[in-house]
Amino acid sequence: MAKNKTRANPNIHQLWPTTVLSKRFAHHQKVNPALLDLFYQHRENERRASAKSYASNDDLLEKYQEHTELQELANFIRAGVFEIAKEANANCWQQDDKVKINLTGLWFQITNGHAFHETHTHGNCSWSGVYYVRAGDSTSSPDLLQQGNEPNGITRFYGPHMEHMAGGHGDYGNYYLHDSSWDSYPNDGGLTIFPAHLKHMAFPYNGEEDRVIVSFHAQVINAKGFKYGYGMAN
Ligand SMILES: [Fe+2]
Repeated sequence: MAKNKTRANPNIHQLWPTTVLSKRFAHHQKVNPALLDLFYQHRENERRASAKSYASNDDLLEKYQEHTELQELANFIRAGVFEIAKEANANCWQQDDKVKINLTGLWFQITNGHAFHETHTHGNCSWSGVYYVRAGDSTSSPDLLQQGNEPNGITRFYGPHMEHMAGGHGDYGNYYLHDSSWDSYPNDGGLTIFPAHLKHMAFPYNGEEDRVIVSFHAQVINAKGFKYGYGMAN
């Protein structure tokens, strides 16, 4: 099933890449302040969790259907999900497929005081993502880590190599297994979309301003109907 489009060495197969999208919302300077107003007001009204580690319910899109900026962000996210799903399925989708993106859950999180979100995966969706409404004092680039700073509020993703490092035989021949994680660095307006099954965690965050993000679940529907086959042979 896995097909390589380009291979430098024809004897070598580089199999099963992990597809992640990372891009910036061009309208974030207009949209984000309106989202911050909405989210802090929502937290004030809802009070369902600690203020320094706050996650709303995941029904924001239904609850705020008339909120222009939230719906504008949702459209940007849907376009991003389509972009990554189309790329990942380049060898599987038909040319004339009509595809619909359902954001089945969308919620916000406000974090401070060294709060973090331990390693987890998402269920009942094919793609998930994080949108940075306010990065605050989060580590914004890999350069800062290389200068010896501790990571602050970054999102770290763990690939399959992680499974084979602990207790495995390590020598120069499998040194590449150390390339086992990838970091998403918070920047205002940044969006990262990833396969929902991919393990990830949000590092502890502490800063003068809160770290505020939107998270979401997305399902991708073939509008013409689609029977999921439990096997890729065709
Ligand atoms: Fe998550």
